[in-house]
Amino acid sequence: MSTTTTLITGIGSLVTNDPGQGAGPLGLLTEAAVVVDGGTVAWVGPAAQAPAADERFDAGGRALLPGFVDSHAHLVFAGDRTAEFNARMSGQAYSAGGIRTTVAATRAASDAELEANLARFVREAVRQGTTTIECKSGYGLTVEDEARALRIAAGYTPETTYLGAHVVAPEYAEDPAGYVELVTGEMLDACAPHARWVDVFCEKGAFDGDQARAVLTAGIEKGLTPRVHANQLTYGPGVQLAVELGAASADHCTHLTDEDVAALAGSATVATLLPGAEFSTRAEYPSGRRLLDAGAVVALSTDCNPGSSFTSSMAFCIAVAVREMGMTPDEAVWAATAGGARALRRSDVGTVTVGARADLLLLEAPSHVHLAYRPGVPLTAAVWRAGVREV
Ligand code: NIG
Ligand code: FE
Repeated sequence: MSTTTTLITGIGSLVTNDPGQGAGPLGLLTEAAVVVDGGTVAWVGPAAQAPAADERFDAGGRALLPGFVDSHAHLVFAGDRTAEFNARMSGQAYSAGGIRTTVAATRAASDAELEANLARFVREAVRQGTTTIECKSGYGLTVEDEARALRIAAGYTPETTYLGAHVVAPEYAEDPAGYVELVTGEMLDACAPHARWVDVFCEKGAFDGDQARAVLTAGIEKGLTPRVHANQLTYGPGVQLAVELGAASADHCTHLTDEDVAALAGSATVATLLPGAEFSTRAEYPSGRRLLDAGAVVALSTDCNPGSSFTSSMAFCIAVAVREMGMTPDEAVWAATAGGARALRRSDVGTVTVGARADLLLLEAPSHVHLAYRPGVPLTAAVWRAGVREV
C-alpha cells in the first residue's frame, strides 16, 4: 500500500530526544528536516540532505518537537469546582474529600454528556500540542460508573487507567474495607477489559499503604500495570510501594524523604511531577532538581482534573517546572515528551526518530526554550498526530 510522504523542511531547531542524532540529551538538530511517511517518521536529518517527498511543508525556521505526552489526566467527569477553587484561593486548604463533589456530578451525567466533555478536553489538549494523553476513571466509584468511564475513555486513548480507588465511595464511608473489596473484586472485573493501567490514591483521607497494595496487586493479577498517586499531600508509603511493585510511574512526588528519592533513582519507576496541582492548591512544588540530581527519570504531566489542577497545558507545566522546580528548559521539555513516554512505557512516541509515530508539534517560536521563556503565550503553530495534521 503506498502512502503519502511529506517533507517538513526549514526546521530552525529540532528536538529529536535522540542523543545519537544531535546535541545533548534532546538530540538537538538545527536547519533540519523530517520526512513523514503515512503515520510514521521515515527520515530525520540536515535539511540540505533531505530526500524528495510527495508533499512539502516549510517550517520557516521555527522549532519542531515531539508532541507532548501527557501521562496523567482525569478527563471523564461532569461539573466543575469553581467554588472550591475560589475558596482555596481565599485561604481554605485542599483535601482529598473534594473528589466526592465531582463524583456526584459525574454519576448524574449521561454517557453522551461525559463523552462530550472528554472529547472537548482531548481537543483542547491537542490544540496545545499534546498528542498522547492518559485518562483515568475515578469519578464514578460504582461498578457501573467506573466501567462506563473507562469504556468512554477507551474510545479516545489506549492509555486508560482504572482508578476505582480514588477515594472511598460515599456509600462505603463507614466501611472502607468493604469498598476495597469491591474495588479489588467486582469493580475490577468490570473495568479491567477497558483499562491498561491500575492506579490508587495512596494518601491520608484516601487509601493507606496496605489498602493501596491490595488494590495494585489485584490489578496486576488481572493483567493491569500499576501507577500510583504517591506522596502528594503528605509523606507516606506510596513511592516505596510503587517502586516495590514495579509501577511504571509514581505521580505527584511532592513530599519525598531521601529514601524515597533513592528508591526512585534506583528503579525503573518514573517520577511524574504535576506542577498544575501545586499551583492550583497553593502548595509547595516538588523539586525536579533533587530527583534529577539523584538520577531518577522525571516526567511532567498536567494532572488535568476539575479539583486540584484544571489545566490541559503542558507548556504551562514546563514553564512552572523551570521557574519553580529547578529544572532547565531542556530537562522540562524532555520530561514533557520522552519522560511522559517512559511513564507510559511507550517507545513509539516522545521522540522524532525513524520509525516513531509522526506526532509532531511545530512552535510559533525559533526554539523549544520559548515554552518556558514565553509563559502563557499560545505557541502552537501546527500539530500532527500519526502524520495527520490536526492543528
Ligand atoms: O491527582 N490526587 C488525587 N486525584 C487528583 C485530584 C482529584 C480531585 O481533587 O478531584 C489529583 O490531584
Ligand atoms: Fe491525579
